[in-house]
Amino acid sequence: MTIALGSDHAAYLLRDHIAAHARARGFEVEIYGATGPEAYDYPDAADALVPKVLEGSATLGVLCCGTGIGITIRANRHHGIRAANCTCNVMASLARQHNDANILGLGARILSKERAVEIFDTFVDTQRSPEIRHLKRVEKIDAPIND
Ligand code: RB5
Repeated sequence: MTIALGSDHAAYLLRDHIAAHARARGFEVEIYGATGPEAYDYPDAADALVPKVLEGSATLGVLCCGTGIGITIRANRHHGIRAANCTCNVMASLARQHNDANILGLGARILSKERAVEIFDTFVDTQRSPEIRHLKRVEKIDAPIND
């Protein structure tokens, strides 16, 4: 499995920590966004990574910023992306099972590295639910909005 990881300047250390863990687990890893502490806008990191998930060259994505909020909001502007900013294992598990989330959002200013790794493991190890009620709701996420 290939996992794409991206971040802004506020979270590149967390992203790189998770990338090293992912490599140690045997995943292929692709890195996007900031390369150091110089300012790097989080929407640009999201926009660089998202096409890899949409085209399927990456199975799942991980996007990190200070809170995990801004980068997740931007990722969700792309049709077909279901990015979930998660702060615990329950959220990570249910984001995969119920929402078929394809990108995990993580906040470097919110989570310890150890907790973030736990959440990452839960996210990548959990499959989407095959139950019709969940699949139907995920379809509705991507459906046109009738104003
Ligand atoms: C950068 O200072 C910060 O705003 C960003 O990392 C993120 O927290 C935005 O949601």
